[in-house]
Amino acid sequence: MAHNSFGKNISITTFGESHGQAVGVVIDGLKPNFPLDLEFVQSEMDRRRPGGNSLGTPRKESDTIKVLSGIYQGKITGTPLTMIIENTNQISADYSNIEDVFRPGHADYTYFKKYGIRDPRGGGRSSGRETSARVAAGAVSKLYLKEAGIKIEAAITQIGNIKLDKDEIKWEERTSNELYCPNKKKAESMAALINDLRDRGDSVGGIIECRITGLPVGLGDPVFDKIEAVLAHAIMSIGATKGFEIGEGFNAATMHGSQNNDQRNSEGFLTNHCGGTLGGISTGQDLVFRVAFKPTPSISLPQRTVNKENQDTTVVIEGRHDPCICPRAVVVVEAMSAIVILDLYSQLSLEAN
Ligand SMILES: Cc1cc2nc3c(=O)[nH]c(=O)nc-3n(C[C@H](O)[C@H](O)[C@H](O)COP(=O)(O)O)c2cc1C
Repeated sequence: MAHNSFGKNISITTFGESHGQAVGVVIDGLKPNFPLDLEFVQSEMDRRRPGGNSLGTPRKESDTIKVLSGIYQGKITGTPLTMIIENTNQISADYSNIEDVFRPGHADYTYFKKYGIRDPRGGGRSSGRETSARVAAGAVSKLYLKEAGIKIEAAITQIGNIKLDKDEIKWEERTSNELYCPNKKKAESMAALINDLRDRGDSVGGIIECRITGLPVGLGDPVFDKIEAVLAHAIMSIGATKGFEIGEGFNAATMHGSQNNDQRNSEGFLTNHCGGTLGGISTGQDLVFRVAFKPTPSISLPQRTVNKENQDTTVVIEGRHDPCICPRAVVVVEAMSAIVILDLYSQLSLEAN
């Protein structure tokens, strides 16, 4: 199975499955002599870990990060940085009833048809657990970006039908609740909706918005590696993502050129409808994009499906699952963004005019 790596100048390779010994990441290309703040890396892991918030799965993992290589006396050496996260709380018996059936909304059917073998426990390689390795790599990337004055923050702006209008977004409120919702009041309604769906054995989707500030002009290239193309690739590689839009996104289709163009004066751009990119190259404004997540596929209601012999059957999914993926995915969206921006940033220094 190919393509477990991402990135050009700085690349990441993730490995491991949900119910194997560990998941992990190798990061190649990091600039040496950089002090690695492992406490920060761990704090990012804690934002994603199962059992880390009251709205998620009751599966509890400590998600303690272990560094295997690439560090000497607290500093990055420039050799491959390998980090692992051990799996300590798997209950494989939860998956015995789905070994031979394809769960609706999961990778089971396509994975089995393609490879002819699959580890059904927790989704194996297709599990959301794989994203813990990305969060570790994202945390390291964020530390480098911080030195360059670049900040990446994501927030939940919609759960099911409960959404924030532009004027309801109060970015400073985003850390006031465990949903990372930039509106304290709406966060309460969103949490109630998630809990209600959990009680009914169902699940719900949502939208995460990400803002990247402090960017220079010049990240990205005009053709295949447009900044939005690389970002969309990275973000849509996260499980359960179903939509990506930047700036006005799909709303741009309803606008006129006179409304959508970002005019300039000598001090800079007057608006930011483009979301911080023109011609695939960062404008130096905030980069703003949104990503839609589908409802968690594992629900405990009975669903129709087939087994490996293509016989009709019904499946009821046991195990411990998130009724909504968004709360734990906020830090994953930030991580993949950080990995992309650090990669493009290191390219910029090679291309400086
Ligand atoms: C952070 C994170 C956590 C996830 N947790 C679950 C989960 O608890 N239960 C589940 O059914 N799917 C979960 N998923 C989603 C599945 O991994 C994903 O929907 C599935 O592999 C099918 O892939 P696709 O939705 O990209 O087509 C999670 C995804 C992410 C990013």
